[in-house]
Amino acid sequence: MAMRAACAVRPGFGRTEMNERYDFGLALVQEAGKLALGYFNARDQLTIQNKGPQDLASEADVNTELLIRDRLAKAFPQDAFLGEETAPTEYTAGQGIWVVDPIDGTQPFILGMTSWCVSIGFMQDGVIQFGMVYAPARDELFAGGRDIGATLNGKPIRVSGARSVREGITYAGYSPKSGPHEFLPGFTRLLEKGGMFYRDGSGALGLCYVAAGRLVGFFEPLIRSWDALGALAVCEGAGAQRSDFLSHDGLFKGNSLIVAPPAVYGEIEGIVSGA
Ligand code: IPD
Ligand code: CA
Ligand code: CA
Repeated sequence: MAMRAACAVRPGFGRTEMNERYDFGLALVQEAGKLALGYFNARDQLTIQNKGPQDLASEADVNTELLIRDRLAKAFPQDAFLGEETAPTEYTAGQGIWVVDPIDGTQPFILGMTSWCVSIGFMQDGVIQFGMVYAPARDELFAGGRDIGATLNGKPIRVSGARSVREGITYAGYSPKSGPHEFLPGFTRLLEKGGMFYRDGSGALGLCYVAAGRLVGFFEPLIRSWDALGALAVCEGAGAQRSDFLSHDGLFKGNSLIVAPPAVYGEIEGIVSGA
């Protein structure tokens, strides 16, 4: 399982406190993953709730989030919490905040495909410190962060050495939170440039695949922080470059997102913007 390297130390937090949180998050994401996997294996008994267009949830999502939320509230009562399924706690700038998607990839989860995960990210002083993304049905645990590297099941990972979208596969993320007009021009340009696309219903896993060098980039017109934050920490640890996701209140409102190895980033930025 993922090994912990030394954690970045930010104002307000000593190394010990950050390490403690990292270790806790690593154990917690696996505990939550086990709970969610139990629901996945008995998914014919789930009650599916339709939250909106192409947006499903079941008691697996809510109960997995409650487990994570309760454990964190007991261990770190001073920290804030933002998750997809429950109301956020009060948050003041400078406070530590846990950003959680109990199941990212709910559609594949409900439909019996394995591309789903539990995602936990931690931010402090406006900086994404670390994150962990666990795909129990694939037995893959990604973890990492700024200054601490990134790992997959404890082994170091790094972004691809590709220099162009022509040399690999790019994650083309889309959900009805944006509209086709915000996605299709970039998608067309990706294909025109000789790129290839991938989407498997979990933005968090798509981002981790960039971190692991499986994909050469990721773009999505609008994604929420709980989908992305844990994986963005892993991407940063693996040497990826990313757009300024936290600008314009991205933490609470979501934002567009581009992530890629530095050698490919500019090309994908051009593909998305049309510049
Ligand atoms: C969704 C997935 C999807 C992305 C959407 C997310 P959910 O999360 O990450 O890949 O395109 O923006 O909402 O609903 O499966 O937790
Ligand atoms: Ca999600
Ligand atoms: Ca979710």
